[in-house]
Amino acid sequence: MSTNQLDKKSEAWSALFSEPMSELVKRYTASVFFDKRLWLADITGSLAHAEMLAAQKIIGASDLADIQRGMAQIRSEIEAGGFEWKLDLEDVHLNIEARLTQLVGDAGKRLHTGRSRNDQVATDVRLWLRDEIDLISDLLKELQVALVDVAEKNVEVILPGFTHLQVAQPVSFAHHLLAYVEMFSRDAERMVDVRRRTNRLPLGSAALAGTTYPLDRERVAKTLGMEGVCQNSLDGVSDRDFAIEFTAAASLCMVHISRFSEELILWMSQNFGFVKIADRFTTGSSIMPQKKNPDVPELARGKTGRVVGHLMGLITLMKGQPLAYNKDNQEDKEPLFDTVDTLKDTLRIFAEMVGGQLNPATGAKEGGITVNAAAMEAAANKGYATATDLADYLVKKGLPFRDAHETVAHAVKAATSHNCDLSELPLTVLQGFNASIEKDVYECLSLRGSLNARNTLGGTAPVQVKAQIARHRTRLA
Ligand code: ARG
Repeated sequence: MSTNQLDKKSEAWSALFSEPMSELVKRYTASVFFDKRLWLADITGSLAHAEMLAAQKIIGASDLADIQRGMAQIRSEIEAGGFEWKLDLEDVHLNIEARLTQLVGDAGKRLHTGRSRNDQVATDVRLWLRDEIDLISDLLKELQVALVDVAEKNVEVILPGFTHLQVAQPVSFAHHLLAYVEMFSRDAERMVDVRRRTNRLPLGSAALAGTTYPLDRERVAKTLGMEGVCQNSLDGVSDRDFAIEFTAAASLCMVHISRFSEELILWMSQNFGFVKIADRFTTGSSIMPQKKNPDVPELARGKTGRVVGHLMGLITLMKGQPLAYNKDNQEDKEPLFDTVDTLKDTLRIFAEMVGGQLNPATGAKEGGITVNAAAMEAAANKGYATATDLADYLVKKGLPFRDAHETVAHAVKAATSHNCDLSELPLTVLQGFNASIEKDVYECLSLRGSLNARNTLGGTAPVQVKAQIARHRTRLA
C-alpha cells in the first residue's frame, strides 16, 4: 500500500479490497500505540537505507536530501510531542512514512524502495534493543560497584552462612555480597553476548526473499554500527531469537535480584535485624503504625515473575511459526518493552538502595544499606557454626574425617544440653570426647578463627575476600 492512500482514512487497503477494515479489526491489528517508541530507531534505519539507495543511484541525490529534511522535521515534531499518531496508519513505520510523504512528496514514496516492513521492523527492534542493552550493561555495572562498596566496608563482619536456611558456617558479610557480584557479572556477560547477535542487520531481506535492487547491505550495516548482516533473508525477517535470548538473560538477572530481595526481606525482619534500608525504599502500613515494610525488594521479587512470564510469552510466540514473517511477531513488542522497562527500573533502584545516592556536596554516597554487625555476629554464634572447624581440627590430629564428624556430633549434643556454644565447653569436657584436643582448639572454635581458616581461592577468609574486592575493582574500573 502506498502512503498517500494511507492518508485517506477509512478507505480500503488498496484497489484489491472491496471494503475498508472494520473498526474492531483496525484496533486489533494496530500496534502504533505501543510500537511508537521505536520511532528513533525507525528514522535512523530509514536514513541509513535512503543514504545507501542514493549511493547506489537507486534514488536521486535530491530525493535523499528531501528524505533527510523531512525526517529531521518529523524528529523534532515527535520530540516536541506534536506528532499526530494515527491508529488508521497501523504502526510506527506507516505513520512516519505517511508523514514523510506529506512533507516531501515523491521522495517520501521512494524511501520504501527495496524494503518491506518485515525487514524494517526487524531492524528497528534490533537497533532499539541494542541501545537498551547498553543502558542495562551500565546499570549492571553500577549495581556491582554498589555491592563492592558495601562489601569493602564489611570484610570483617561475620554473618551466619546458611544451608537449608539452617546456620551452617560463619562467612564474611562481604563474601556474601560478592556472591551477588558474581551473579550480576555473569548477567553482564550474557548481555554482551546477546548484544552481538542482536546487532545484525535484517534490512535488505525485504519481504522475505531479498530484493531486485542492487542494495549495499554491508554499507547500511556499517552506517548503523551493526556487526554484520543477516545472511539469509527468510531468517532475517522472521526470527526473534535475539529478543527471546535477551528476555532469558533478563529473567536470569531478575532471578538474581529476586534471591537478593528475599535475603534483604529476611534480614530486615525483626527476627534477624541484620540490615536496614533507607526509609525512602520502604512503606508504612495503613493500620499498623509500627510498620516499615520492604516494599521495593518484595515488588522486585514479584516483578521477576512478570519478566519470566514475558520469556514464556515470547518463546511460545515463536513456536509453530512457519517461515518467513508472520503477523504473530507484532506481539513481540509489549513483552520485550516491559522486560526492558522492568529490568532497568529494578537495577537502578537496587543500585541506589544498596550503595546510596551521591551527595554532590561531599562527593560521597549516602543512604545505602546499614549493617548491624553485632546482630549478625550474635546470630552466627547460635547454631554451632564452627562444628565443622572442630571436625577439621580432629582430622589434623590424625582422626579419619567420618570419625571426627561423629565425635563432634557428640560434642554438639553436649553443648546443646548445656545450652551453650562449643567454644564455651571447658577443655576437660572437650577432651572427654577426644584426648588429643588441646587448648589451641578455642582458636578454631571462634568465628574469626573459622573465617581465617577458609583461606583457599574463593573462600571466605578476609585475605581472600580482599583479593576478590581488588579483582572486582579492576574489572569494574
Ligand atoms: N507492525 C508490524 C510488526 O510489528 C510490522 C510488520 C508488518 N508487516 C506486514 N507484512 N504486515 O511486526
